[in-house]
Amino acid sequence: MTAIENWGLPTSQFWLHGERPRDPVQHDEATGLWNVYGHPEAVQLLGDPVQHDEATGLWNVYGHPEAVQLLGDPATFSSDTSRLFPQGDEFADGNLVRMDPPEHNKLRKLVSHAFTPKVVAGLEPRIAGLTDELLDAVDGADRLELVADLAYPLPVIVIAELLGVPASDRELFKEWVDAMFTRDATPSLKEQTPEQQRELDAVLAQVRNLTEYLGGHVDERRAHPREDLLSKLVEAEVDGERLTRAEVVNFANVLLIAGHITTTMLLGNTVLCLDAHPEHQARARAERSSLPAVIEESLRFLSPFATLGRVTSTEAELGGQRIPADQLLMVWAAAANRDPRRFSNPDVFDPTRDPNPHLGFGRGVHFCLGAPLARLEGRVALGKLFDRFPVLATDPADPPEFQPNPNMTGVRKLPLRTG
Ligand code: HEM
Repeated sequence: MTAIENWGLPTSQFWLHGERPRDPVQHDEATGLWNVYGHPEAVQLLGDPVQHDEATGLWNVYGHPEAVQLLGDPATFSSDTSRLFPQGDEFADGNLVRMDPPEHNKLRKLVSHAFTPKVVAGLEPRIAGLTDELLDAVDGADRLELVADLAYPLPVIVIAELLGVPASDRELFKEWVDAMFTRDATPSLKEQTPEQQRELDAVLAQVRNLTEYLGGHVDERRAHPREDLLSKLVEAEVDGERLTRAEVVNFANVLLIAGHITTTMLLGNTVLCLDAHPEHQARARAERSSLPAVIEESLRFLSPFATLGRVTSTEAELGGQRIPADQLLMVWAAAANRDPRRFSNPDVFDPTRDPNPHLGFGRGVHFCLGAPLARLEGRVALGKLFDRFPVLATDPADPPEFQPNPNMTGVRKLPLRTG
């Protein structure tokens, strides 16, 4: 067993390291860095739950009550960041994540019925069958690379099939989506350096690849509708009008991106947590009904979407700070999920915690549309992994790799011993 913090999570996420290690503040001889693991020490260092960062011009929100207040007030804290970041405007129409009420509700309603727990439950046999197919391909081996073998392909195939794009094109999406998230820079409102501008242009080029690809399928559905989500979006009406081509494409784009990389991270993170806590793994194996709670705790402990962005529409007050209008706020959901004012022993992975009001799926009007699907995929995949492999253990000689982007918490490679 290896504690999660020893696997080398990016230092930018030092507060996400596993259970509190030996000393709350430690000097690392190898790197010459000081690591701060303790919550009181981090609070002393970081200060308030809401802070302005002079270097980037951003406001960082770390506290749970402050994050809940912000996410529950879309009129003040808007999701439409495009007025501060006009780059990428071409992808704004129909981008559900970046819209505010009332337009947001109208668009969300078009697909929400496809993602209710009841409808999603109907996908269980397909998810189970796919998991079996993917695991059959590695059966008999004494090693597994969880991400490549299961955690990446499973959710991508599911969302591609729902949308109606060929799942066999998934290597293409992977290339584009991976390239979108390799950027490890923190966003900044200060002037971009030429290097940052080049990186951003490269990311936008990848989004364009994906939207052009989806555009081809949207055009095809206009001519020949089928029983899939793309056809439903093409035919759907809001206030008596059909969506434009750009709206359909950008909406589908959000579903395709949101619908896979996060679930990949959820699966990897959960296996990592259970590797670090054999007692919880043993219980989850013996009592499969405890898996949903394990998944919720994994979302709290290692939250795939570490940050959510919002912009103030008017002057606002949050966490005792006055924030002017038109300011960009980064809501550190992953830090809020470790706020000791809300969670006792926040640095302990404890699947029996009840209630567990984590913000891993967000909160309020933008609460993750795909949460029932992600939960189902997680439960089915973990159950099948347990059925097939009596051992699922990390290997210090072949350690996991984490996403380099500080806004995401998750493995992108997780080699496991299975025997
Ligand atoms: C929104 C997390 C899986 C589709 C969100 C948000 C979070 C989140 C935090 C809120 C964003 C915000 O408030 O700005 C996750 C995590 C997942 C996951 C951690 C897996 C473990 C999925 C899946 C889908 C999906 C499988 C499939 C369709 C969406 C969509 C939104 C969203 C469409 C935007 C909802 C809206 O703006 O109204 N997700 N998600 N997500 N998620 Fe997920």
